[in-house]
Amino acid sequence: MKNLILCLLAAMLGLLPAKAEKEFVNLTPRPKNLLTYDGRCTLPTAFSVGVDAALGDSVMEEAQRFVDILNASMPGYSVSLVHQTDEAFLKIAQYTGVASNVGNEGYRLVMKEDGITLTSLTRKGFYYGLLSIRKMLPANVALGIPGAEGTEYFLPVATITDNARFAYRGFMLDVSRHFFSVEEIKKMLDIMAIYKMNVFHWHLTDDQGWRAEIKQYPKLTTVGATRSNSWNTDIYMVDNYWWTGEGAYTGKTYGPYFYTQDEMREVVAYAAERHIDVLPEVDMPGHFVAAMAAYPEYSCTPANPPSVWINGGISSNVLNVADPKAVEFAQNILGELCDIFPYPYIHIGGDECPTSQWESNALCQQKMKELGLSSYRALQTHFIKEMSDFVGTKGKRLFCWNESVTAGGADLQLMKETGATIMCWNPCQGGAAKAAELGLDAIITEYHSSTGGYYINRRQSNDYGEPSGAGYGDDTVEGCYNYVPVPDNVTAANAKHYIGVQGTFWTEHVSSDEYLEYLALPRLICVAEAGWSTQGRKNWNDFKTRLTRDTEMLDAGGYVYGRHWMDNYVHRVYKNPIADGAVVKFTNQSTDRPRCLADQNGTLNGQGDACTEWKLEAAEKDGEYYILSNESGKYLNASGTASGSTVTLGTKKTAWTFDETTMSGYVAICLAANKDVAVNNNVNNASHARLFAHGTSNGASFWKVDLVQEPDAVAQVPTATGHPVQKIYDLNGRPSRRNGQGLRIVDGTKVFVK
Ligand code: ACM
Repeated sequence: MKNLILCLLAAMLGLLPAKAEKEFVNLTPRPKNLLTYDGRCTLPTAFSVGVDAALGDSVMEEAQRFVDILNASMPGYSVSLVHQTDEAFLKIAQYTGVASNVGNEGYRLVMKEDGITLTSLTRKGFYYGLLSIRKMLPANVALGIPGAEGTEYFLPVATITDNARFAYRGFMLDVSRHFFSVEEIKKMLDIMAIYKMNVFHWHLTDDQGWRAEIKQYPKLTTVGATRSNSWNTDIYMVDNYWWTGEGAYTGKTYGPYFYTQDEMREVVAYAAERHIDVLPEVDMPGHFVAAMAAYPEYSCTPANPPSVWINGGISSNVLNVADPKAVEFAQNILGELCDIFPYPYIHIGGDECPTSQWESNALCQQKMKELGLSSYRALQTHFIKEMSDFVGTKGKRLFCWNESVTAGGADLQLMKETGATIMCWNPCQGGAAKAAELGLDAIITEYHSSTGGYYINRRQSNDYGEPSGAGYGDDTVEGCYNYVPVPDNVTAANAKHYIGVQGTFWTEHVSSDEYLEYLALPRLICVAEAGWSTQGRKNWNDFKTRLTRDTEMLDAGGYVYGRHWMDNYVHRVYKNPIADGAVVKFTNQSTDRPRCLADQNGTLNGQGDACTEWKLEAAEKDGEYYILSNESGKYLNASGTASGSTVTLGTKKTAWTFDETTMSGYVAICLAANKDVAVNNNVNNASHARLFAHGTSNGASFWKVDLVQEPDAVAQVPTATGHPVQKIYDLNGRPSRRNGQGLRIVDGTKVFVK
C-alpha cells in the first residue's frame, strides 16, 4: 500500500515514465504459463519476506537462504524474514488452486507493482519459485554475487504458474578420462541450479581412471587413479585462443586424481542446497579397466594384469562376473558409495561391454552352464540382477545404460525384475521404447541423431574457431534445443515411462575447465529447458532471445560458453555496439614501417602508412570499439588509405584470404573479431612478410601464423620455409588449434597477423 501511494505521488510529480510498458521476462526454462502486464514490480530498498505461519520450518529455511542471497547480492538493500505475511512485500503461502497445476515441484507467482505472492505445495516448489524471482532480477542475483551500488531491482508485473515437465533433469560429467576439481563441479552445479536441473550424474570411474576413494580397496586410488600417459590432454583456452598442448601421448603421468569420501560428501551437500541429487556411477562390468589394474585378481586375465588404459574406445578387458569374489568386490564398492550418496539410485553403467573374455574363461563357461544361459550377454544381465539385489538391501535401485535392454541376448525378463531406470543413449529412442515396453523408466540422452542430441561434449560447429574433439561438428546448439525427447508416436502408456532428459558430457578430449564450459554451455541450458518446459512452450527464437540476455550472467559468473548461435552477436560487450554503417577511424599508433589492411575481399588497403598498430576509434568512444560479426551479421571492411581512413561495417564475408604474393613488405593487420583467416599456400615468404604459408598436404593448406598483440611486438617461433607447419602459435609461441587449419580471432582483440 505504501508503495502504491509512493507510486501515485511519483506519477503526480512526473517522475514515472508517461506510459508503463511490459517488462521482458527473462526466465529460462520457460514457464508453463506466463501472463505479463504493463508496469514494474520494483523492490523497495527495505522489505520483508513473510512466510505464512501455517508453513513449517523447512520453508522458513528455504526463504532464509533466499533472503541471505538477496542481501548479499543487492548492496544498499535490506531484506528481512518473518514468519507471518501481514506486512510482507513478498508473501509465501500454501497454494490453494488445482494441485495438478503446480504438482510436486511447481509454484505460482503473482507479481504486482505493490508486492509479490508465491504459493506452492512443496518445499521444492517454493525453492523453484524463489529461484525464478532471482532469475528475473538482474544477473548478479541469480549468481548470488554483489551487484553495483545503486542498481534498481525490479521484476515484471506478471503471473506465472509453473511446473516441471520431467522429474529427472540431469547433467552427467565424466571425471575419469579427465578429472575436474570439486570447485569446478560446484561451478557446474551452480549453473544447473539456476536452470532448475536436479540430478548430477557423476561418472566416477572408467577404463582411464578411478576417481572415488573406496576405503576397503585403497589400490583403486593408489593405482587406479593414475595413468601413465596424459592422453589427449591437449586443448586449452589461453587469452581467448584454443590451443593444443603437446598433443596426445606425451608420456607424462596423469594423476593420481580422485575425490576423497569427504569431498564426495561435500559435493552432495552443495548439490542438496540447490535441490540437486547426485547419482554416482561406477561403470561395470565393462569400462572397468582402472579397477582391474588395481585388483587384477578380479579380471578375466589375472596372470596378465591390465594397466589403467591410455586409449579411448572400448576395452575387451572386463570384470569376471562369474567369479563370486569379483562380484563381492563390485558389491563392496557399491556398498560404500551407497553410504555416501543419499539419492535412492546408483548407476552401474553396463554400456559397451564386450563378452569375448567371458567366452574364453572357464569360470564364465561353467556359470553359463549352471544358469542354463544361451548368451553371454545374459550373463551380464545376471550380474546386473545380482547388483540390483545387493543395492536393494541398501534401499536403492539401479540405473543402467540402454545396452542392458537393447543388446542382443540380454535377459529382458530379468531386467524387468530389477526395476532399473534405463539411461538411453544409443539407440536412444529404441532403448526408451524397449524400456517402456518392459515397464521400466527411461532417461533420454540421445548421443547423436539427424535431429539433434544431448551429448553436449561433441563438436557444436565446424567453423574455424571450433576446437577439436568428439563428433563431426553437427551437434549444434539449435539441434540440441530442438531435439524432441518424446516423439509424437510414443503412446501415452509408454510416455509416462519417459521420466527425464540429460545432458551427457564425456571428457576424452576435454581436460580444461574452459573447454568443459565452452562445450556444455549453452547446450546444457537447452536440455534444462527440455526438462522443465512442455514441448509446446519450447521455441528456439524465444530461447535465443532469453539466453542472449543471460550472457551477462554467464560473463559475471566467469563461465566460458559458445556464442556462435546468437544472432548478431557482438563481441566482448553486446550492450554498446557501433551501429551499422557507423564511421570508424583508423589512427596511426606507431612509427614502424608500412603496413597494410585488407578489406573484406582480401584487397589490400592502406599501404604506405607508417605504423605497426592501428587503433579503431568510434566517434566519441575513446578507442573502445565493438565489432559485429556472425553468419547473419556484418563484418568490417576498409577503404581508402590507412591513416585517418574510415571503415564502415560491410556485408558478410566468411573468410579473409591474404595472398602473400601481393603482400611483399607488408603485414596484414586483421582488425575484425571472430573472423576466419585463411592464407594462400605455396608462397615463399622468406625475404619479407611475417605471414608464413607453406606447402600442401592432401589438398589442405598448412600454415603458420605468429601473433603479436599490443604491446607485445616480438614475433615468435620462426619457421623454416618449405615445410608444412600444422599449428598456429599464439602470442607466447604456444601452438594453438588443431592442425593449423584456420585461426579465429575472438573477442574484439586487436590481433596482428605477422
Ligand atoms: C556411452 O556413451 N558409452 C554410454
